[in-house]
Amino acid sequence: MYYSQFLSRVCMPHAVLLQPKESWNSSKSNDEIIVGHCTKVPRNSNLEKLRSGYLFPEISRHESEHLQKNPDASLIRLGIGDTTQPIPDTITLAMAEQVRGLSTIQGYRGYGAEQGNMALRKAIAGKFYQDMGIKANEIFVSDGAQCDISRLQMLLGSNVTVAVQDPSFPAYIDSSVVVGQAGELEEETGKYGNIIYMNCGPENDFFPDLSTIPRTDIIFLCSPNNPTGHAASWQQLKQLVEFAEANGSIIVHDSAYAAYIRDGSPRSIFAIPGAKEVAIEISSFSKFAGFTGVRLGWTVVPEELLYSNGFPVIKDFNRIVCTCFNGASNIAQAGGLACLSTDGYHDLCKVIDYYMENAKILVDGFTSLGWKVYGGKNAPYIWVHFPGMSSWNVFAEILKKTNIVTVPGRGFGPAGEEYIRVSAFGQRQNILEAIRRLNSFL
Ligand SMILES: Cc1ncc(COP(=O)(O)O)c(C=O)c1O
Repeated sequence: MYYSQFLSRVCMPHAVLLQPKESWNSSKSNDEIIVGHCTKVPRNSNLEKLRSGYLFPEISRHESEHLQKNPDASLIRLGIGDTTQPIPDTITLAMAEQVRGLSTIQGYRGYGAEQGNMALRKAIAGKFYQDMGIKANEIFVSDGAQCDISRLQMLLGSNVTVAVQDPSFPAYIDSSVVVGQAGELEEETGKYGNIIYMNCGPENDFFPDLSTIPRTDIIFLCSPNNPTGHAASWQQLKQLVEFAEANGSIIVHDSAYAAYIRDGSPRSIFAIPGAKEVAIEISSFSKFAGFTGVRLGWTVVPEELLYSNGFPVIKDFNRIVCTCFNGASNIAQAGGLACLSTDGYHDLCKVIDYYMENAKILVDGFTSLGWKVYGGKNAPYIWVHFPGMSSWNVFAEILKKTNIVTVPGRGFGPAGEEYIRVSAFGQRQNILEAIRRLNSFL
């Protein structure tokens, strides 16, 4: 029963509301009691369809509950995937200089262009899209990829059909639900009726078997993938672009982890000929530069990408950006520019190498324990298979026995059952300690 239906039965307007235990789908714990006034404003029915709280706050909640029960536990957080290493000096100094300037008449800056500083847009085009024909004016600087996913959903509206990888980063499906694309949640399968789930497991090399996928307007694809760690090969991305061309679909390609690719797989969808006519790319400084808290990302919308009526998508995206966003922080953008300088980029590559060494330690550690491990070669995530087991149970057991926080694969979609995701974004001593604990307790 939806919460509004519950209310219509038990709650008169302006009554004090006591929260029922199971009927509310937020991340609040079950015993929380909500007290207040009922207004006459109906809840957005799309939000009522959201399955549960957003995955990562849910993980934090489990973490806090564990700490409440075990106040002395020394937690190792390999769950949420937040970066831990300091940002190199070259980059923080550039941000500090920008901040100092704000206290001077000459250095003060107010609003900037909604689309981002041209110098940064040019630097992104030069660094990440050289020889791909992407122009600076097709790059929209943002406050992060997650916000851009939602802005893209606002652009697309509720009438488009959508396909997502299963498992996948939860923001694609959750934002589809919020804008009304998803349909009803089918309890039995854990899937939304109007979303096409593209299974990605070891049996298909973690890439959708496109011969079985029906046409949709939009195809979300994340490479390297969060959570499986799989980087799509040249051949796979070429197939996808051809599939989108044949079907008249738009690919939304998330390349937030492109900097972690080691094996020569494409770092952008625009490396594939023809992609400019069928794809949008979202990306981020979060995992590339440790900007998870600084907040900076970008979206590429090529001029060649057109709606069915011939109208350029870029014009609408520009309108959305101008309406819903007033430009990224000029401090973050100064940092972004420094990330792309020769010194900044060199220093960041060393941090990425550090995380990838962590990934190797985790892969080796889980493998030596006898588990089948995927990912960790082109991405900072390890995807560990526990055949026949519930991923939430594995998550809970590891937390209880070793005080290590992971993420249950089921949180990334039905195909994530039997898996957990382990993040390599930790301090080295914690990674080593995690392997030691796993060896002792599992
Ligand atoms: C695949 C993917 N896309 C986007 C994001 C969000 O990135 P940002 O911090 O830029 O909002 C994340 C964050 O973990 C992610 O894993």
